[in-house]
Amino acid sequence: MHNIYPVLFSKIIRGYNMIQKKSANILVIDDDLGVRESLKMTLKDTYSVFTTSTIDEAISSFPSVKPEMIFLDIRMPKSNGLDFLKEVKSVHSTIPIVIITAFPSTQTAITALRNGAFDYIVKPFNLSEIRSTVERALHYRKEQSKTKALIYKMRSDIQKNFISTTQTLLLAIDAKDSYTAAHSKKVSWLFCLIADELGFSKSQIEILRFGAFLHDIGKIGIHDKVLTKPGKLSKEEFEVMKHHPEIGYKILEPIDFLKDGLSIVRHHHEWYNGEGYPCGLKGSEIPYEAAVFSIIDAYDALTNDRHYRKKYSHKIALDIISKRIDTQFTPHLTEKVLDIIDKYKNYHHI
Ligand SMILES: [Fe+2]
Repeated sequence: MHNIYPVLFSKIIRGYNMIQKKSANILVIDDDLGVRESLKMTLKDTYSVFTTSTIDEAISSFPSVKPEMIFLDIRMPKSNGLDFLKEVKSVHSTIPIVIITAFPSTQTAITALRNGAFDYIVKPFNLSEIRSTVERALHYRKEQSKTKALIYKMRSDIQKNFISTTQTLLLAIDAKDSYTAAHSKKVSWLFCLIADELGFSKSQIEILRFGAFLHDIGKIGIHDKVLTKPGKLSKEEFEVMKHHPEIGYKILEPIDFLKDGLSIVRHHHEWYNGEGYPCGLKGSEIPYEAAVFSIIDAYDALTNDRHYRKKYSHKIALDIISKRIDTQFTPHLTEKVLDIIDKYKNYHHI
């Protein structure tokens, strides 16, 4: 009996190679059927070519097509190709977009290039020019993606280095005041948990947790005599201590990626009634995340031994904070935060 397997196998391999060859998805957006078909015919053997006649159709096909390159007619009836170009470039900066233009209008081409187009082609097309444009565009995309990945890695390495440097700074404060480093770790952990329950987004939490972790970094600038005084601080000493949020803010301000987490560092000692420091912000003037954090900060301070007093129990700490609602702490929000703290009271971190 004739063995069909070698034939079948070679067919599968050929099919596999054909799929392999179509290495990139190309989206053609043009209201002119002739343009769509000629581009498809020119490129279909090498690439997967998808065509749409309107921008709306292109937008809805985006998630399934996942284009790696786009041909776009900039002048379409009813919609503006330039707006679509800007929108795509703002979200998918590495997708090259080649503009199709019916007349050699220098101004149209310049406007498109200024708005991020990779190149432009003028109708009627030169087919070999189309192929070389596609190759250049896809090469550009590959290089762009590599650069983007490299920048991302460099940025995350810098962040990691920065975090370990600040950890060292916190350990330096810890050497003076053994409470700070452990406190910083615990409140940032608790802040992430509570912020998640309060509906903060993941990206917000990612930045704010640094602010929570580094909220007392400014204590590095406070004299040991004040920082580790065994008794209660005098009025003058307290005035010195009140500088730590601003000092911390000044230390971290130049670090760009921390920008959105600095409200916690600067405002974690503001009071709801405006009697806090450093800015004396009142009610809704206090950034929400700082108002949330101040409750967590107080809870952790109350439930730990300090130089000037012994720690309170979980229940007494909650009572003390509740009594300060409307003066130090924000109403409604504080009840919510305390409920969450109470829910997790048996976690070993609390
Ligand atoms: Fe503080």
